[in-house]
Amino acid sequence: MYLRILKLLPAYKLHFFLAILCMFAFALSTGALAYIIGPVMKFLFTSGAAEDIGIVPFGLISIPKEKMIIAVPVIIILVAVVKGLSSFGQIYFMGHVGQGLVCDLRKKLYEHILNMPIGFFHANPSGVLMSRLTNDVNMLQTTASESFAAIIKQSLTLIVLGSVIVSLDWKLSLAAFVCVPLAVYPLRKFGKKMKKVSTKGQVTMGNITALLQEAITGVRIVKAFGMEKYETERFDTENKRFTKWQLKSIKVRASSSPLMETIGAVGFAITIWYAAFRIESGELKPESFISFFAAVLMFYQPLKALNGVNLSIQNGLAAAARIFDLLDMPSETSSTTTEKRPERKLETIKESIEFKGVSFRYEEKWILRGINLTVPRSTMVAIVGSSGAGKTTFVNLLPRFYDIDEGSLMIDGVDTRDFSLQTLREQIAIVSQQVILFNDTVRGNISYGDRDRNEQEVVDAAIAANAHDFISKLPDGYDTVIGESGIKLSGGERQRLSIARAILKNAPLLILDEATSSLDTESELEVQRGLENLMAGRTTFVIAHRLSTIRNADTIVVLSKGKISETGNHDELLRAKGEYHRLYTMQFRDKEPNNRSSEVTVADNTDINKVIN
Ligand SMILES: Nc1ncnc2c1ncn2[C@@H]1O[C@H](COP(=O)(O)OP(=O)(O)OP(=O)(O)O)[C@@H](O)[C@H]1O
Ligand SMILES: [Mg+2]
Repeated sequence: MYLRILKLLPAYKLHFFLAILCMFAFALSTGALAYIIGPVMKFLFTSGAAEDIGIVPFGLISIPKEKMIIAVPVIIILVAVVKGLSSFGQIYFMGHVGQGLVCDLRKKLYEHILNMPIGFFHANPSGVLMSRLTNDVNMLQTTASESFAAIIKQSLTLIVLGSVIVSLDWKLSLAAFVCVPLAVYPLRKFGKKMKKVSTKGQVTMGNITALLQEAITGVRIVKAFGMEKYETERFDTENKRFTKWQLKSIKVRASSSPLMETIGAVGFAITIWYAAFRIESGELKPESFISFFAAVLMFYQPLKALNGVNLSIQNGLAAAARIFDLLDMPSETSSTTTEKRPERKLETIKESIEFKGVSFRYEEKWILRGINLTVPRSTMVAIVGSSGAGKTTFVNLLPRFYDIDEGSLMIDGVDTRDFSLQTLREQIAIVSQQVILFNDTVRGNISYGDRDRNEQEVVDAAIAANAHDFISKLPDGYDTVIGESGIKLSGGERQRLSIARAILKNAPLLILDEATSSLDTESELEVQRGLENLMAGRTTFVIAHRLSTIRNADTIVVLSKGKISETGNHDELLRAKGEYHRLYTMQFRDKEPNNRSSEVTVADNTDINKVIN
């Protein structure tokens, strides 16, 4: 996990290098401080009777005793300034590295999520994904910028102080370090516990975000069904669970620190006990002991800090594990999805779209079985079938929202899996059954697929979708922001915007899934006219409930029980006296035999899918 985080590092190598440099300076200045304390004390208490002192370990720089009275305070200030500056530098530079890494990771994760196949979103609620992007990434950020830095800094400090200690008296240092191995086991134990607790906490946080997201976006239904209390309780269950995990993590943190301190104290006690013997026997000079004493005191501080860091790192690693799990899932664009196929560019549809023995299932449930259908270019296919027959699923195979399980779906004789997803989807405009709009202006929503379209093109598309009139009446016209999912518009208005968006895209393959279902007869007729203009010269798949639309189709496909039960145009299917005929006659059964025109009007507006099957 560390290595994977470190792999992101090269972009920040300069800052990382500067941070390490500052950490070195910090560690050295800490060591120097400990080293000079002893001689300085001796100098003070023996009124200048000290010898020349070396202020850097091993006497690299030495100061004559007459200059001590000025030099010592200056040195103390200098060392403190170096320590302060290097402390600032390492926090700042490491912060830069940490924040930068996490910023890159966040973008990578977001891009990856957007590139995941649709099926991924069925399995992962949006709230959980949001939590991954915010909470988990934040947690990793703390680790990357603070804990990482602390580890390097504290380890360096430990090494420098350790060298000071050993250089002063190696026998005594053995006594001081005898307890260090004792700390290893609890350190690991606490670390493991922390990782577990943190994982559970983050999973719960994901559930909280998911609940929050669902209840807030669905607040109308929550209110309409009086479920505020129920939702609050549902939320609170997860909320309490999260608090429980947080408390557990506090417990680990709170109990690990005193334990480490006790171990430190034991080491310290042993040192003092042993030092007393050695001073008595004259092997250890008192001023060396003072330096030693200061260094050992300082030594336990980074050790304790490392314990805290260990716990934060476990937190961060748990978060990193979840983030990398997500990043490792194959996305639509990653080569691991299927064995790498040559990516061809789809320019346009020249001849036909062909389904050859296509079968598809969601998990275990087969929705489509052995579909064979050839749709010549520039023709219109209507798909009819009862609710849940698989009509939406059928058209969703065209832009490869789902990959088929058996058979192949070809455009001009080439399997759609051989085309790059981008060029394939560029050829397709969709009006989906569930209208999806963004919290943006009307113009922004219409020109969603191509933000560079000019004003006139946007207006033309709106006129064709019979949306221009209502848009002109909005407070800011095309600049009106329509709220989340277009909440400030009526259902029909939303649908007309989504039609305008598809019209503007001007793609050769058009998919209309119940595109006009929320419109009244009058606006539907007008939109229908716009759509008919649009369909001319395009290959169109229509799922519609109005007979008028279906009757104009070149081919009508009747889906039932996952199979195509009938195909043909309106007249052929009527002559065949099959299922479509049954439906048609059902609609006319009760009508006056002589009033043909009114029959047609009624029939045109009959919901065909409610009658079929
Ligand atoms: N993500 C999914 N996971 C599992 N099953 C699904 C999923 N989406 C749809 N289904 C099932 O697949 C079947 C076909 O759904 P589909 O949306 O294609 O129906 P439809 O013909 O468009 O119906 P309608 O006319 O109501 O829109 C349904 O039985 C549905 O329960
Ligand atoms: Mg549908």
